[in-house]
Amino acid sequence: MAKRTVATLLEMKKNGQKVSQVTCYDYSTMCLIEQCGIDTVLVGDSLGMTMQGHDTTLPVTMEDMIVYGKSVVRGSKEAFVVMDMPFMSYQVSVEQAVMNAGRLIKETGANAVKLEGGAAVKEQIKAIVDAGIPVCAHIGMTPQSVNVFGGFKVQGKGEANAERVLQDALAVQEAGAFMCVLECVPPKLAALITEKVDMVTIGIGAGAGCDGQVLVWQDLTGVNQDFTPKFAKHFGEIGEAMKAAFRAYNEEVKGGTFPAEEHSFVKSDCGDGFLEGLRAKY
Ligand code: KIV
Repeated sequence: MAKRTVATLLEMKKNGQKVSQVTCYDYSTMCLIEQCGIDTVLVGDSLGMTMQGHDTTLPVTMEDMIVYGKSVVRGSKEAFVVMDMPFMSYQVSVEQAVMNAGRLIKETGANAVKLEGGAAVKEQIKAIVDAGIPVCAHIGMTPQSVNVFGGFKVQGKGEANAERVLQDALAVQEAGAFMCVLECVPPKLAALITEKVDMVTIGIGAGAGCDGQVLVWQDLTGVNQDFTPKFAKHFGEIGEAMKAAFRAYNEEVKGGTFPAEEHSFVKSDCGDGFLEGLRAKY
């Protein structure tokens, strides 16, 4: 697969080819993802929950994003890497948004940034795009506004809300976004938005009518065992496989069967007599 770019992703939409995206936060996982043909990777601020154990994404900082983002980019070759802008890194002013988007790209080497909000952040999107940075928007259920929504709830239900979500999509497209995550939006509305925009729509809990899909990698592999969102599917039971490996290791260490002789680098090159001498001396 060739390196994915804004142009190739937009081409995929035009040709009716689906776009795959997963979240990723570290080098080792990224090396595995690279071998599987996934088109794009999101260094999501969901790392606040999946990697740091917070209840929401709100505590994640720019410094956190940069540390995780750099690790992902080191493992990426062909996938297009999108960096999430964390809470309060772009809401204060347009200038703050451009500075922080620039830091994310300059310090990690990623390909694009993602920010939450529709019409409310159109000035920020326009300025970031004008600075030469591709933008993925994120509308519908935007987790950084969890306290406004009163929980992680479906958005766009009812006629007025549905029209507002469509208007948000049109606003972020007009501002220059080339891609847009639609999170927890009713499927028919997500399909309508996908039809109305040229941006690549990436759904999560938004049905099959989007141009592509994103899932948090721990949700799709079964590594996250705390909670499985309704929209996630386990494509493997890696959490169970990891637990089996940790248990087997624990048993072998405690039973003295690991490490065996073949796991040592150098067979002792000192004679038994010399080692006996050391035993006596110390
Ligand atoms: O932070 C994240 O991982 C996200 C996706 C779930 C869309 O925003």
